[in-house]
Amino acid sequence: MDIKFKSLTLQNFKSHQELTVNFGERTVITGDNTKGKSSIGEAVTWLLYGTDLMGSTKFDPFPSNYEAEETLVSLLLSVDGMETLLGRSLNKGKATYYINEVPSKATDYNELLDKLFDKDLFLSLYNPNYFFTLHPTKEQRPMLLKYVSAPANKEVFKELPRAQAEKLAELVKKHSMTDLEKIHRENKTKLEKMYIAAQSRTKTLKEQYENNAPTVPLESLQVEDSQLLKQIKEIEKVTDSAGDSNREYNNLQSQVKALTDQVAMSKERWPKLKNEVIEDTCRTCKRPLDDEAVQAVEKDKEKRTQEYKQQHANLVAKRNALREQLKELEYIDVTEQINQVRDLEDKRFPIQQEIIKHKQIEALKEQLEEAQTAEKDTLDSLNESIFIIDSIKAFYAQEAELQAEKVQALFDILSINLFKEQKNGDIKPDFEIEMDGKGYRKLSLSEGIRAGLELREVLSEQSDLVAPVFVDNAESITKFKEPTGQLIISRVVAGQELTIEVEE
Ligand SMILES: Nc1ncnc2c1ncn2[C@@H]1O[C@H](COP(=O)(O)OP(=O)(O)OP(=O)(O)O)[C@@H](O)[C@H]1O
Ligand SMILES: [Mg+2]
Repeated sequence: MDIKFKSLTLQNFKSHQELTVNFGERTVITGDNTKGKSSIGEAVTWLLYGTDLMGSTKFDPFPSNYEAEETLVSLLLSVDGMETLLGRSLNKGKATYYINEVPSKATDYNELLDKLFDKDLFLSLYNPNYFFTLHPTKEQRPMLLKYVSAPANKEVFKELPRAQAEKLAELVKKHSMTDLEKIHRENKTKLEKMYIAAQSRTKTLKEQYENNAPTVPLESLQVEDSQLLKQIKEIEKVTDSAGDSNREYNNLQSQVKALTDQVAMSKERWPKLKNEVIEDTCRTCKRPLDDEAVQAVEKDKEKRTQEYKQQHANLVAKRNALREQLKELEYIDVTEQINQVRDLEDKRFPIQQEIIKHKQIEALKEQLEEAQTAEKDTLDSLNESIFIIDSIKAFYAQEAELQAEKVQALFDILSINLFKEQKNGDIKPDFEIEMDGKGYRKLSLSEGIRAGLELREVLSEQSDLVAPVFVDNAESITKFKEPTGQLIISRVVAGQELTIEVEE
């Protein structure tokens, strides 16, 4: 973009009652002190922004020492060949704006200017001292870096150790560098806590493992146990078979007893049957029974007697047979064997406890191994996050260095510090301009102008904006490089009236 001033008119602007300036590529304003040289430059910033050359709004150009109706400044401006006539007037403290002679609202006027060019950039190009009035880190730095692109990730990776570069190159495919830093800083905090917890778990399990280690080896315990078990089995063979025959004995014995009871009961029935009287009269009608009837009763008694005898004999025979069988059997006493088995089981008990201990310690060992793996995995993740954080730090440091080199390469006489290293080694954005090792505040008038001119040249070139420059008090500087854009110089010449000369 190319901004050019065509002509400027001042009415009742400070000491100027009526003045028109027609600008050329080089416009030289000369005159003695107080002839109104600076005012010409100021008229432009007041017209555009209502400020003085330094951007201060506490600026009132209304004549204070002569009668005037209104202050009016107008400027014919050309932006990339397109002309606009801008005007601002001040009448009894009220401002009026003109766009191509049309009275306009302040908002429309300011909007038009905002669209044309950035205020701070324009003022920095127009007044070589303006940039230094801006806030170093909040305004100067962003403005300069806005036009100087940051080095590409690839360029930075080239300067990093290979392992760091490869890791970051892979990670930035998914996340931005700032997000990565956030993620891994949080990971680190989380994993540090997890690692402490994992370490203490391993420690506890290890102590448990060491304190509960069995003293007798499992194999000898198993041998001992199986020997005892073998002895028990041998004894149990005896007690088992004894049990079988004893069961048979007991069974037979109780059968004999039951039969003996039955025989006794049968015996008790005998006298009643034996003494049963054969009646010769009917029990109900009391008439004598005939012989046939009496014979039938006798026959019946005889029959029941025979049946009873048979049954009784059967019972006695059966009992006697079982008694004979019982005589053949023998009740085996296994109390001693049972006591032996008990003793052997008592011996087995502590051995089995020891075997259980072996199984428990195996489980504990597994837990311990798992805990050790978990601890190692946590440490690995933690180290990974630390490595990534360190790589990002290195990346930023390298990026800063490359960017600083890139910016520095644009300057001849100025040195620009874009970063400051903090006590903890972190790189923090900063902004400091120096000339021959001196800060701007330390510079002389001419040094300040030269510094400002170099800076506005870089800004102009990097932003692709060509704008007029107003070099006030140019008499104080004997020589300077011709700047880009229209040059407006003001110089004190003793005893001379205000003169404006134009060179093409
Ligand atoms: N509001 C105002 N009304 C009238 N005159 C003013 C007003 N403000 C400043 N002046 C005067 O206008 C005159 C011109 O000022 P200006 O700064 O333009 O002079 P100059 O030529 O740049 O002087 P120097 O060589 O000292 O830099 C000065 O005498 C100044 O005091
Ligand atoms: Mg002056």
